[in-house]
Amino acid sequence: MKRSIFGIAAAAILATSSFGADYVMKISHVVSSSTPKGMAADYLEKRIEELTAGKIDVQVFPNSQLYGDADEMKALAMNNVQLIMPSLSKFPSIVPQIQLFDLPFLFRDKDHLYKVMDGEVGAKLKSYVDAKKQMKAFDYWDAGFKHFSSSKKAILNPEDAKGQKFRIQSSKVLEAQFKAVGGNPQILPFSEVYSALQQGVVDATENPLSNFYTKKFNEVQSSLTLSSHGYLGYLVVMNQQFWDKLPKDLQEKVSIAMKEATEFERKATEEDDAKIMAGLKKYAEESKRLEIFELNKEQIANWRKVMEVIYPEFYDVIGEDLIKKAIETK
Ligand code: LMR
Repeated sequence: MKRSIFGIAAAAILATSSFGADYVMKISHVVSSSTPKGMAADYLEKRIEELTAGKIDVQVFPNSQLYGDADEMKALAMNNVQLIMPSLSKFPSIVPQIQLFDLPFLFRDKDHLYKVMDGEVGAKLKSYVDAKKQMKAFDYWDAGFKHFSSSKKAILNPEDAKGQKFRIQSSKVLEAQFKAVGGNPQILPFSEVYSALQQGVVDATENPLSNFYTKKFNEVQSSLTLSSHGYLGYLVVMNQQFWDKLPKDLQEKVSIAMKEATEFERKATEEDDAKIMAGLKKYAEESKRLEIFELNKEQIANWRKVMEVIYPEFYDVIGEDLIKKAIETK
């Protein structure tokens, strides 16, 4: 059910009294509504309400309005929010094996990525989440490959990263990745990235294009390097108790809506990248405040060489077998 920003606090308090609905499902996320994840959350709201004829009232809270990175997992465990879709890099304290997705240069391309996500490796990782009993794992959603950006020095070769302060998500793999090139990684919640870049708390970061553009990081970074060195995706998770309480027929409808939303989200990401690139190029030309760089084969090989050395460090945490299985997935 749609509401204004001003109604959010009231909605959060009165969430159980939605008119005519048997259940209230709050969805919280940290990105803009215009990202593929944001659009898919809104799509999910619409489809669940349609398919259940309003028996489930879905309320979406974007932009960390309800919960940010630090508290959304806890809020889900306590059933204060019923569905979230955190980035895979935010699961390590619960399921450290999920850091597999953070390994730099792991995926050859999108086709390889989807085969890993939707195949044996992805299923195994979801089973670790389900085993925690507090949350039920649904589908993997996509944000795309990540790119470096900086306000200090354009990051074209590994040496350029030396001494730069990088904002990272809460993942040990990401920490190791930047330490491997002499960078100083600092964990910050997504909601604080713009001001941290603006005030020079950090110099640089890594993002998929949708997050970079919709949060206007281009205003506070002077260079963007299309490095595709790592990946950012999501896992949609529901509070287990909320799911268990839904009658079978509503569970089936939620599952149908979820499947449709996953297709919608992945397609939106595919389509988004080209549109955003056009927007960023225009911004760069007009403002003269952003330079966009592409890497040649040799530069990519240099990055791969210095970053891949971190893999063995994570054999125990992630599972050497799982990493090898992901690499060998055809
Ligand atoms: C980030 O913190 O950079 C991302 O996890 C934000 C998101 O949800 O895409």
